[in-house]
Amino acid sequence: MQLAYSGELAATHAYIGHARSVRDPAEKAEIGVIEKQEIEHRERVGEILAALGAGPDPRRERSQLRVGKVVGALCHVGGWLIPMYGAGWLERGNIVEYEIAARLAVEAGVPEFVDDLLEMAEVEWDHEQYFRGKVREHWMGRRLPIWSMPPPREAIREAFERGDPARR
Ligand SMILES: [Fe+2]
Ligand SMILES: [Fe+2]
Repeated sequence: MQLAYSGELAATHAYIGHARSVRDPAEKAEIGVIEKQEIEHRERVGEILAALGAGPDPRRERSQLRVGKVVGALCHVGGWLIPMYGAGWLERGNIVEYEIAARLAVEAGVPEFVDDLLEMAEVEWDHEQYFRGKVREHWMGRRLPIWSMPPPREAIREAFERGDPARR
């Protein structure tokens, strides 16, 4: 959870840079919405940490803040496609990260967090779809090999109910 908490900080800063680097106002706004959802995720993960009697790991916080700012700055030199591709790939991992966290919550005896964690997995699923779609709009993006397609959105809760392990 500490990793997810600081990871969302990195994501927020990366998207601030990304939103600034795109020219199309519609894309700017769409990435802005995603950035706000990452801020929300961080707040919710922060609440879970607090409820577990834990807090953020200061070293992780510092390093992830740096990562987010560097990635955000690189968006200005990476062209249009590279940041879209990188974001989609990272979001693909985020889905699974929250699916794993939901399973760990059960094992840790705090099932009250399961719903929140699965919902965050679903929002990361939306993010992955958005960036996948953007990569596929690009003439070169269409020709690139792409990360694995996640199962349908409903499958996140179905797999959890069945007790299937989360996997990429
Ligand atoms: Fe997130
Ligand atoms: Fe995300």
